[in-house]
Amino acid sequence: MGWLSRWFRPGAEPAKSADIEPLDLSVFRYDFHSHLVPGVDDGAPDLASSLEMIDGLMALGYRGAVTTPHIMVGTYPNDRSTLELPFDALRQAVAERHPDFQLALGAEYFLDASVLTALRDGDDLLAPGGRLLFELAFGAPPEEGLLQEFLFEAQVRGFQPVMAHVERYPYWHGELHRFGDLADQGVWLQVNAASLAGAYGPEVQQAAETCIDKGWVNLLGTDAHGIRHIDALAASRVRPAVHRLAETARNASLF
Ligand SMILES: [Fe+2]
Repeated sequence: MGWLSRWFRPGAEPAKSADIEPLDLSVFRYDFHSHLVPGVDDGAPDLASSLEMIDGLMALGYRGAVTTPHIMVGTYPNDRSTLELPFDALRQAVAERHPDFQLALGAEYFLDASVLTALRDGDDLLAPGGRLLFELAFGAPPEEGLLQEFLFEAQVRGFQPVMAHVERYPYWHGELHRFGDLADQGVWLQVNAASLAGAYGPEVQQAAETCIDKGWVNLLGTDAHGIRHIDALAASRVRPAVHRLAETARNASLF
């Protein structure tokens, strides 16, 4: 069973016309958005699944990954104290299997009042390299004041805000200039490889490609919850937008 049959409904296929030579993904060095810690969110359910995804990343040329479990009040009540033990177990297993593969523990914070409070309280947030990865709701835009307050509080505290999978917020597909404004504000924008492979449909793919073409996107991520997302990463290598992103992506460190 290939990645196509895992991802696409019968009759639906990604755009093929403009596919080009597969990119050597080692240029990206690290995956900056992934759900590899087993059993803590809707990502890897067990260690074997985590290792399968990491095997795939290594085979594609990656040297490491920031794993970013969800933190969302009521749904994923994670924090450093709940995540460090399972992360350390994963890191030990990876060190034995792939000694050269580096792992960092981050998080994907859902933007709500609680993360703003955590910032203001000086909580020990999970932000390796200072990058603070946050996501918005898929169904409705954030309250503008909340987003701006969050960005302000993050930046004055020295964090680098990173907005996750900017192409997956359909309410802004008609207002992509918003992402240009955010980039101008110093926010780093991340897109998912699966979006560029067409896994979420043509609108999402188009939004991702437009943001890359405009030069607003800094980071590629797998947002890997399972091996299907590593398959999609492999598929994305032939997309011209991935080649363009490789030329402009941040050369960010892991930690
Ligand atoms: Fe994610």
